[in-house]
Amino acid sequence: MNNIPNYYNNIDLILDEIWSLLQRGVADRNEDFRLPVVIVSTTDSAEGRIVVLRGAFKDKNILRFHTDFRSSKIKNLKENKKIYFVFYNKKRKIQVRAEGVAIVHKDNEITKEAWTKTQMMSRKCYLSPQAPGDFINDSASDLSKDMGNEIPTYEQSEMGYKNFCVIESKIKSFEWLYLASQGHRRAKFMLDENKSTWLVP
Ligand SMILES: Cc1cc2nc3c(=O)[nH]c(=O)nc-3n(C[C@H](O)[C@H](O)[C@H](O)COP(=O)(O)O)c2cc1C
Repeated sequence: MNNIPNYYNNIDLILDEIWSLLQRGVADRNEDFRLPVVIVSTTDSAEGRIVVLRGAFKDKNILRFHTDFRSSKIKNLKENKKIYFVFYNKKRKIQVRAEGVAIVHKDNEITKEAWTKTQMMSRKCYLSPQAPGDFINDSASDLSKDMGNEIPTYEQSEMGYKNFCVIESKIKSFEWLYLASQGHRRAKFMLDENKSTWLVP
């Protein structure tokens, strides 16, 4: 068999591969794992959306992304803290699903540090006077009518901090799927119990 990666039949190598792909996603905007789908659900709804992966901390089993505190995912997370991520690397044919529990950070040391490192263009996302998902009569929000393509000044951008939050997700399990013509491979990792098992793909 040609081009078979080391982890094909070796479950002990897969967890490191997962964290390596996640960390590359944080560092490199061209990596597929940079843009996971994040799903949160309540008793009568489930909603998924793409976010930018901003942190992957292997020592603490934590994934991190940034969002607007006024967005519907925050309302849903207040009802149900369970959170799910789906990643797919097309070239490597690897899907990773992560299941965790979300912690919403608002105006604390973690948000201050993350905000300081957030570029002006990204800070612009937090400047709208309306909440994400609010109904509007026009195609543009008040913010985009006012600012157009402009990048906010540092002073203008600071107004966005009140809407900024960091979601940290304590990952409880990963599920791995590797697609291969000679046979797919699927495995599950229960992080709290430090256990892993192969699954039928
Ligand atoms: C490529 C891409 C990256 C995105 N990154 C983020 C992000 O890091 N954080 C975020 O809150 N929304 C991000 N979004 C927007 C979300 O997908 C979603 O539309 C938005 O957060 C609305 O919030 P809601 O799903 O809670 O209503 C991104 C969308 C795309 C297409």
